[in-house]
Amino acid sequence: MITVLLLLAIASQAQTCGESGFSPTPNLAMQYIVGGQVASEGDFPWQVGLVENGYLICGGTYVIGPDGNPRVITAAHCLSGKNPRPADYSVVFGMQSTAVAGNRQVVAASTITVHSGYNSNTMANDIAVIRFSAAGKTQISSTWAKPACLPSRAYIHGENSLVSGWGTTSEGGSSSSQLRYVWKTLISLANCENTGNSGNLDNTMLCAGETGKDACQGDSGGPLVVYRGSSWELVGVVSWGFGCGRANYPGVYADTWALQSWINSNL
Ligand code: ARG
Repeated sequence: MITVLLLLAIASQAQTCGESGFSPTPNLAMQYIVGGQVASEGDFPWQVGLVENGYLICGGTYVIGPDGNPRVITAAHCLSGKNPRPADYSVVFGMQSTAVAGNRQVVAASTITVHSGYNSNTMANDIAVIRFSAAGKTQISSTWAKPACLPSRAYIHGENSLVSGWGTTSEGGSSSSQLRYVWKTLISLANCENTGNSGNLDNTMLCAGETGKDACQGDSGGPLVVYRGSSWELVGVVSWGFGCGRANYPGVYADTWALQSWINSNL
């Protein structure tokens, strides 16, 4: 019995996170989901798609829970109400193109926890966690799906971050069948209060981006990551913005460092 527990403990500690062969050096030419760059298969193995009753509605991020099992972090606003029906949702792991089967694995959600403080008017606490059954867990291939790390520290104004998704490639445009990404600069809340977002921010949010570089409709719930040390950490969850990529209107994300106590007790 003791050996079994010990092995379990070792197995859960051995979980790595945030690994990808994708170059962490920002390429500043031509990049934004709005208009931007197509990801290669396996670049962002933590990226998942959230499917509601057969429709890809949002993104999400694969992370590891405290018990060593897979979880997905997404945005509260992607789900229907405070008590969404898990049976309506599934998660697609290992997907690059929505148009081909590729390496994708579709796994049914088993339980969903929406932040009880999520406010659909202010968008405060725009975060939720999805769990899977033991059987679902076995469907996640470790070759194409790899978890991101949770943040190890607070973000710094000016840090480089990267957001990815299948959302629209222009404001009011159509979504992308290929996964896309864009590098964006993180903006402190104080600085973000000097943008058009002023008066609509709170300390559960963070801002990122410059003109023409943004997430857009359909990218919601997806990962904003930062490469730190040797791994990719989830710093934000795509939440909202006034339009997409507009001058003086950086995109807004749920701040996973600010929300860490909720994450720690609900993951
Ligand atoms: N809320 C939108 C969604 O549900 C996307 C928000 C991101 N918008 C932005 N400009 N960064 O997909």
